[in-house]
Amino acid sequence: MEQTFELTVNGERRKVDADADSSLLHVLREVLGLKGSRFGCGQGLCGACFVLLDGRPAPSCDAPLRSVAGRAVTTVEGLADGDVPHPVQRAFLDEQAAQCGYCVSGILVSAAALLAAQPRPDEATVAAALDRHLCRCGAQRRMIRAVLRAGQSMVDGSAANGTSTSQAGRGDAGGTGADPADRGDGVAATAVER
Ligand code: FES
Ligand code: FES
Repeated sequence: MEQTFELTVNGERRKVDADADSSLLHVLREVLGLKGSRFGCGQGLCGACFVLLDGRPAPSCDAPLRSVAGRAVTTVEGLADGDVPHPVQRAFLDEQAAQCGYCVSGILVSAAALLAAQPRPDEATVAAALDRHLCRCGAQRRMIRAVLRAGQSMVDGSAANGTSTSQAGRGDAGGTGADPADRGDGVAATAVER
């Protein structure tokens, strides 16, 4: 049975009429039209659907709507500041870090959360922060390099958009798996929809 829920998505209060057991990912994509978050495993295991819940990376595929009512959700679309990409989005473009891109939106939100807490992580810290994200394309080294570059730009002040993780934006700049080796051994997102 449908109920009305209120949540804050990318800084905007939204009312959603949906079944309490609907996944947050379903609501984001099919009710609110935010298609940046992707469906991969559907079990909280691959990272493709990750969003920020109250600023922390979390899967949206297995989060029922009732569990996120009243909470702040930031999707990949919410990372940028209007037309200005988040530093990590900019860096993924500059490093051409994405391959197929399916895993990327989840990776970007996790990277943004990491850099908001720790703008100058070392490589091992980036890899650990992205450990839950699977990428089958073997772009991991480029992705880690992009996150390090984004952090550097934020520390240097050369990034236009600081550490914000909660604005409006878009969704397809780069991605990462967490393996520091440049292997494509992540099983990653079963490409169900794009
Ligand atoms: S973790 Fe949600 S789709 Fe895989
Ligand atoms: S870039 Fe293809 S799955 Fe990650």
